[in-house]
Amino acid sequence: MKFTGLTIGIPKEILAGERRVAVTPETAAQLVKDGARVLVQKGAGLGAYISDDEYRAVGAEICSDVRELVQAAQVVLKVKQPAFNVELGVSEVELLREGQVLITFLHPAAPANHGIVQELARRGVIALTLDSIPRISRAQTMDALTSMSTVAGYKAVISAANRLPKFLPMLGTAVGMVQPAQVVVIGAGVAGLQAIATAKRLGAVTKAADVRPDAAEQAKSLGARIIELPIPSELAIGEGGYAKLLPEEWLKKEQEAIAPAVSEADIVILSALVPGHEAPVLVTQEMVETMRPGSVIVDISIDQGGNCALARAGEIIEHGGVVIDGTQNIPGTVPVSATMLFAKNVLHFVSHLVHDGKVELNLADEIIAASLVTHNGQIVHSGTLEAMRAHGEGAV
Ligand code: NAI
Repeated sequence: MKFTGLTIGIPKEILAGERRVAVTPETAAQLVKDGARVLVQKGAGLGAYISDDEYRAVGAEICSDVRELVQAAQVVLKVKQPAFNVELGVSEVELLREGQVLITFLHPAAPANHGIVQELARRGVIALTLDSIPRISRAQTMDALTSMSTVAGYKAVISAANRLPKFLPMLGTAVGMVQPAQVVVIGAGVAGLQAIATAKRLGAVTKAADVRPDAAEQAKSLGARIIELPIPSELAIGEGGYAKLLPEEWLKKEQEAIAPAVSEADIVILSALVPGHEAPVLVTQEMVETMRPGSVIVDISIDQGGNCALARAGEIIEHGGVVIDGTQNIPGTVPVSATMLFAKNVLHFVSHLVHDGKVELNLADEIIAASLVTHNGQIVHSGTLEAMRAHGEGAV
């Protein structure tokens, strides 16, 4: 069987506020059925309302000591990058050993995670990051980033609607017609498109902008009105069809183009990202000051610095009566659905990696090569090496 001889460990996530877990009873059952020994840390599923008994029922073992769990496992599955375990007084990285495989979201190019990546390399851990799985059709079932963007786009609109002091849909009442709310979505990638779809379902009028004409076209097909951007596609689109960082003067032109829609909006959802870079600032303080009090901005891009100049990571602030929501890790706030999708993506990735109970690092495979971060004591992830060079840091 595929996983016979392999022990897979799933620790409880310890980052503050993280409620997801890397396996569900459904995916654990699949791993066990295919021969794996699955060790789940006691209470690991509780944040997503999964009890230890549900894991036991499918043949997983519950382990109360995370040290023992990690020690026994050849493959460790997590959701987020290793963090400091306050209870044990050690970093999760220190629990890992040479040759052990770690699969998680590492975001290895982010400067805040360079230390973790260096330590993983020093310890000889084989780390694979789910945020670097290429966007190719055969990797779609493993694409956890897309799954989590779907969750973020949905939840951003739900949170904004909850804070908005008015209705979203058009309503006919005995005392007259209530006009629908206006939702503006900047950045119509996976998260933005899901935000548009959710806002439409709630009955709002939606407008959207994206530098990629394809994305704008998709937004239009969901029923959004398009805010035309005066940006030539050779400036906006880079390698692989992804967005490029705009030169300052073009960023200004974009801000001018979206300013009228932002000013009229009840809700602004910001989800414009450029792979490997900080998020571009598209909504300035002056633009926020033109918005009606009571309006709401949700900056989904906050984990990459944010698209709104006033957004603060992890904070919900008010400026002139406009709420600016900088909640981080939005997918972690929808733990049941996010875990259900994430665990399936991880199962597909592990299945791709393991043959006859052994992890096979086939570097000729685009999916494995792109997601591998540390191997043989070295950092091998090009985006991370580039980011480290840019920050004047050594690789190990
Ligand atoms: P992302 O999260 O990196 O970026 C979000 C959006 O922001 C993108 O649509 C980008 O064009 C836009 N953006 C960047 N700078 C902007 C600016 N200055 N103003 C306005 N918008 C700006 O991208 P995401 O959502 O992860 O994926 C982008 C696209 O990749 C998808 O829409 C899809 O076409 C493709 N994709 C393909 C997949 C596959 O084939 N398996 C899976 C996932 C995505």
